Amino acid sequence: MKRLFLFFTIVFSTLIIVSCSEIREDLPQAPEITLHKSGFSTPGSSDFHGKLIANSNWDMKQCQQCHASNYNGGTAQASCYDCHKLPGGPEACNTCHGDFVNPLKQAPPRALNGAISSSERGVGAHSKHLSDNIMGVAVECTECHTMPNGFSDPIHIDNTLGAEVVFGDFAKLNTNIPSGFSYDASLGDFNPNPSFNFEAGSCSNTYCHGYFKNGNTNNVVLFTAQSEGSACGTCHGDPTTGNPMPKTPAEGGTHPPNANCVTCHLDEVSINGGVYSITDKSKHINGKLNIFGDEETY
Ligand code: HEC
Ligand code: HEC
Ligand code: HEC
Ligand code: HEC
Ligand code: HEC
Ligand code: HEC
Repeated sequence: MKRLFLFFTIVFSTLIIVSCSEIREDLPQAPEITLHKSGFSTPGSSDFHGKLIANSNWDMKQCQQCHASNYNGGTAQASCYDCHKLPGGPEACNTCHGDFVNPLKQAPPRALNGAISSSERGVGAHSKHLSDNIMGVAVECTECHTMPNGFSDPIHIDNTLGAEVVFGDFAKLNTNIPSGFSYDASLGDFNPNPSFNFEAGSCSNTYCHGYFKNGNTNNVVLFTAQSEGSACGTCHGDPTTGNPMPKTPAEGGTHPPNANCVTCHLDEVSINGGVYSITDKSKHINGKLNIFGDEETY
């Protein structure tokens, strides 16, 4: 109510100033009066409009009251599109998370709180999974989140803290043995039941990080872990030595004990000075077992 009163006061005083200046052109300039606080349009200011919106659980309905439900001006006659030029205006998917100037980048960094360091929870290993993947295939948002169907989808912004992590099919892949190889029933089936521990910020029981036959099924990985999450030996093999060899019969597994991966997993790995590396990331962590150049789908 106070705001509305202030608004009309501004409108009327402007009208008076305008009509007076038609008569007396030598009057001193009126000081600029604005409805919002002075830092409202200045990123970095504690009164910046983005901060105000964030502090009210990202409610933009309050702005739509004066700036119109489609944000293009309304009674305020100031359009959000003057600065938020992408389709959807301030509802564009890179406005609050991702890169404000790059509509193709909608995932953190930047996080909701502005963080860009991967040691921050809201940033974590997003880039490593989505675009800066070095040792396996890239994954989509849907492998870890249910995508909102537009900004106002009720599943998008809720009253619980932080984003919801809901796993897609990839983390749940049930790996078994490829055709032509013997199957040891005592090892059971591998039905990953992935979970995200919100308190700890960690993932467990995922196909991707070791829940498969002869893999390190107990592996728990922090979203903010840097190289520890992706070092050789963490998902399969020995985490202490970094040897990626999965469990052999001597360790209760079924993997052939011959050590040189290149012999059987062609084109995918290479060895240099005793250290293995992935040469073709499209064949690794891709939901398929790559043996002798064949790609088996489970
Ligand atoms: C004068 C230019 C300008 C206008 C007009 C403008 N914005 Fe913004 N807005 C910005 C800039 C610049 C940023 C990004 C600042 C940054 O990178 O931190 C931003 C960021 C935001 C954010 C993201 C906040 C965050 O912390 O991530 C929201 C939400 C937003 N604006 C909503 C609106 C709405 C709603 C309107 C219209 C009622 C509007 N803006 C009008 C310039 C503007
Ligand atoms: C009570 C009506 C009203 C509400 C509510 C309101 N605005 Fe405004 N807004 C205005 C008016 C009128 C102007 C133009 C005069 C001025 O700059 O104060 C304006 C101007 C602005 C500008 C500056 C535009 C420019 O080109 O520099 C921004 C940014 C802005 N509003 C964002 C917002 C955001 C974000 C919200 C919601 C948090 C919001 N407004 C809520 C009435 C309102
Ligand atoms: C490998 C899994 C994974 C993928 C893929 C992924 N995310 Fe996330 N995302 C997470 C995790 C884990 C969090 C952190 C949850 C927490 O701790 O609050 C998160 C948090 C977020 C947040 C909240 C950030 C914050 O500041 O709190 C947003 C927004 C988000 N993700 C958007 C996306 C979008 C958009 C994509 C696709 C372009 C995507 N994510 C892909 C796992 C993922
Ligand atoms: C005004 C700010 C804002 C805009 C614009 C925005 N988001 Fe979000 N987004 C959030 C916030 C806040 C969260 C985390 C909040 C939560 O889960 O309660 C979030 C979380 C997410 C997540 C993580 C999963 C989840 O729902 O928690 C995804 C994915 C996502 N947004 C996609 C999108 C897409 C797609 C768009 C464009 C249609 C979009 N966002 C536009 C603020 C925004
Ligand atoms: C003699 C051929 C051979 C060599 C050498 C070999 N592998 Fe395998 N690899 C296989 C076969 C066969 C399977 C399928 C085993 C099964 O399902 O029981 C397999 C499966 C795997 C799997 C999936 C998990 C599993 O056991 O089913 C991983 C991971 C793997 N190998 C990694 C390696 C690494 C790392 C090396 C090198 C240190 C290596 N392999 C060397 C033949 C080989
Ligand atoms: C983030 C977890 C993770 C890490 C780290 C990892 N792997 Fe794997 N690796 C997998 C998964 C998942 C499979 C597929 C297992 C399956 O489908 O049964 C796999 C399979 C393999 C295979 C078998 C061929 C194939 O792709 O099907 C080889 C060889 C292999 N990895 C080598 C390595 C080497 C060498 C390193 C270190 C440079 C490494 N891995 C690090 C997750 C990982």
